[in-house]
Amino acid sequence: MANLRKVFLIAGARPNFMKVAPIWEEMKRYPDRFQPVFVHTGQHYDDQMSRVFLQDLELPQPDIYLGVGSGSQGVQTARIMIEFEKAMDREKPDLVMVVGDVNSTLACALVAVKMYVPVAHVEAGLRSFDRTMPEEINRILTDQLSDYLFTTCEQANENLSREGIAGKKIHLVGNVMIQSLLRYRQGAERSPILAELGLNRGEYCLLTLHRPSNVDQRETFQRILEALAWIQHKIKVVFPAHPRTQKQMKQFGFDNAMSQSSNNLMITDPFGYLDFLCLEMNAKFLLTDSGGLQEESTFFGIPCLTLRENTERPVTVTQGTNILVGTDPTRIVKEALDILKGNGKRGEVPEFWDEGVAHRIVEVLVG
Ligand code: UD1
Ligand code: UDP
Repeated sequence: MANLRKVFLIAGARPNFMKVAPIWEEMKRYPDRFQPVFVHTGQHYDDQMSRVFLQDLELPQPDIYLGVGSGSQGVQTARIMIEFEKAMDREKPDLVMVVGDVNSTLACALVAVKMYVPVAHVEAGLRSFDRTMPEEINRILTDQLSDYLFTTCEQANENLSREGIAGKKIHLVGNVMIQSLLRYRQGAERSPILAELGLNRGEYCLLTLHRPSNVDQRETFQRILEALAWIQHKIKVVFPAHPRTQKQMKQFGFDNAMSQSSNNLMITDPFGYLDFLCLEMNAKFLLTDSGGLQEESTFFGIPCLTLRENTERPVTVTQGTNILVGTDPTRIVKEALDILKGNGKRGEVPEFWDEGVAHRIVEVLVG
């Protein structure tokens, strides 16, 4: 079959699986056009950061598992490149599709392009304009290397044009992460997690934290905990802690103090996708430094206080429910109290954050 294209679909870290799943499903509908091959780099490997997502998102076991694991920025990126190049050599795909902005995204794009294989980047063009974030470097470089740039919003198109990327490569298709959310929303509604944790709808705040700028620096982490100490006097806080954050809490000696601080703070391991969506959609508000959560909360219409000074997803602030609060405890507490008084920010869902995103991507590829 002359037109059949073997496509490597790359996932490595938690926020990749929900972006890959709808594309995988859509490509499977065109067996004479696409032969999708699911590649998992193993950047994330704990069951709760990886296996649970395959299960919840009905993804198959990876066709190729690179097993690279953790390491410093350089070591991790290099290991992915070494292992991915071997897989490329063996399998000779016609297209490599990467999503998001993690190290796996850049490493695989870089290997592919040097082997003359075209690259498609899903979630292209997002910019925080903060080069101290490893993700910002991954975004800029991946976009420069890519042949197909699939964007979530108009602003992303503008960023790419400003960086000299030809308009014909850029396709505004919408937000594929939201497509997963829509697909699994009913499953999430059936999750027993609220009952299991003894929570009621709208009576708790959901917190996630994992940015190195917040959790790897003792003073910054401490400032966030100060805010938390206030907030948990007013409302229960559920805090599924990312492995990086758990490690840092231990290292800084915060873990004991936090778990003893109050019955209103519930620190847990990360949750699977369905349980987590259920916690998100029923929360009073979110406190987070996650990229994806800023978008999901905008979709759900739930106020989100982002513990960062900038965002690569400004549409969630201009149109959505997101407010950038940084890490000053006074500011965080003020905004949280506003929400508790009923003055939470309302917003709208951006255009194309719907169920048709993967279809639009595949249509572009089919040409
Ligand atoms: C990575 C991404 C970040 C993304 C986040 C999503 C990069 C540069 N960063 O950050 O953009 O928002 O994933 O969750 O790619 N660890 C485990 N088990 C695991 C995975 C990690 O224990 O399954 C621990 C290890 O100690 C590791 C640390 O977490 O060193 C950080 O993991 P890493 O993948 O390097 O970065 P993240 O902080 O997860
Ligand atoms: N998520 C999850 N369980 C958790 C925390 C997050 O399923 O305990 C999901 C969340 O719904 C979103 C994605 O993981 O779809 C976001 O990933 P993360 O915050 O790790 O990465 P980022 O978006 O910041 O890159």
